[in-house]
Amino acid sequence: MLSAEQNQTLTQVGPGTPMGNLLRSYWHPIAAMSELQEKPTKKIKLLGEDLVLYQDKSGNLGLIQQRCPHRGVSMVYGVPECNGLRCHYHGWLFDHDGSCLEQPNEPKDSTFKDRIKIKAYPVEELGGLIFAYLGPNPAPLLPRYDLFVRKDVIKTIGFAVIPCNWLQIMENSMDPVHLEWLHGRYFEHVFEQRGKPVETWPISKHHIKIGFDVFEYGILKRRVLEGQTEDCEDWRVGHPVIFPNMLRVGDHGAHSFQIRVPMDDTRTLHFWYTCFVPGPSTEIPEDYPITFYECPLYDEKGEFITDYIDGQDMMAWVTQGETANRTIEKLGTSDKGIILLRKLLMSEMNKVKDGIDPMCVIRDPKINEYINLPQEEDKFSEGALLSNVAREWNTRYAPNIDEIVEMLAKKKAATTKNT
Ligand code: FES
Ligand SMILES: [Fe+2]
Repeated sequence: MLSAEQNQTLTQVGPGTPMGNLLRSYWHPIAAMSELQEKPTKKIKLLGEDLVLYQDKSGNLGLIQQRCPHRGVSMVYGVPECNGLRCHYHGWLFDHDGSCLEQPNEPKDSTFKDRIKIKAYPVEELGGLIFAYLGPNPAPLLPRYDLFVRKDVIKTIGFAVIPCNWLQIMENSMDPVHLEWLHGRYFEHVFEQRGKPVETWPISKHHIKIGFDVFEYGILKRRVLEGQTEDCEDWRVGHPVIFPNMLRVGDHGAHSFQIRVPMDDTRTLHFWYTCFVPGPSTEIPEDYPITFYECPLYDEKGEFITDYIDGQDMMAWVTQGETANRTIEKLGTSDKGIILLRKLLMSEMNKVKDGIDPMCVIRDPKINEYINLPQEEDKFSEGALLSNVAREWNTRYAPNIDEIVEMLAKKKAATTKNT
């Protein structure tokens, strides 16, 4: 249980707040590169700030404040030019560092434009996503975590705007036992209600043991389910929560980052960045597109979509309320991962207050060439379980899901033949 003040400290992300300062130490994904190919401007809400992302006619990316400083219209309707974004209302032109380059209706010899500077932030592309950095200079390196860099996989990026604070989504990732209930017993209940045959899920097995270790890039979480021993990869290797706002999950058929980007105190832009690992006989063409798709929260009746794993998680995150009231919670021993995450967040917030880089801020290019993250491959000791149920993930909404399922089936057949 937290005090109201502690809850606020952990959940408020705006400029000048302790958590806002911590989160401003990191690069955050804000869009897929393919979105700008369709439309060159995108309205962005990030850490409580209203911004516009754009790609100019030279292909450069920019991220500037949303309001034009002249008379306040939205620059989302700006016109990209060779060297920046021009306001649609009276034609002021801004470049990617926020300088005003032109004011077409001011006298030729006016120096007015030289005194206009708008908020502008650095942006970079990696693995099909565009990342932004809102913190103090000098900006750290954009971490080259393995899945963003890998080329030998088929990638899909799903997204949704989740109407709740980012922290309850992260806390869900530090709560291993929800697996046997939300994705186990509750899953069975959903199937029973629909009159569908109830599948036997290894994930509904009871947790014998859970464990957590802080490591260089966050927290490794481990579990032993009924029927497993500590020799299983779920315990020996585990899977990481990458500090501060990413989860890595999957098995040897597919790996996925779940990235929780705080838009403001009560909305989170969630990405599911999934990499399917094809079988040895599947060649991935050089230019294979990274598909980008929206994941719905609700069905046509306005109800949560609860017949798959990610939909169940979204239901749990959102129904805790816009910001979970941690002053009335009753934490038990199974919540020790959540307590550890809160402690780590508090200690890293203090580092930032003292002017020290928090964990996962990377400035050494050598380290950043390729950051290989640990993750169990033989999940629940079941072989390539999750990748064979791609339709139970948000990837069910990916436009190329049929192709992916076919590829996974081929891989499974090849694996079976070889064993
Ligand atoms: S409001 Fe943007 S140029 Fe006038
Ligand atoms: Fe879950």
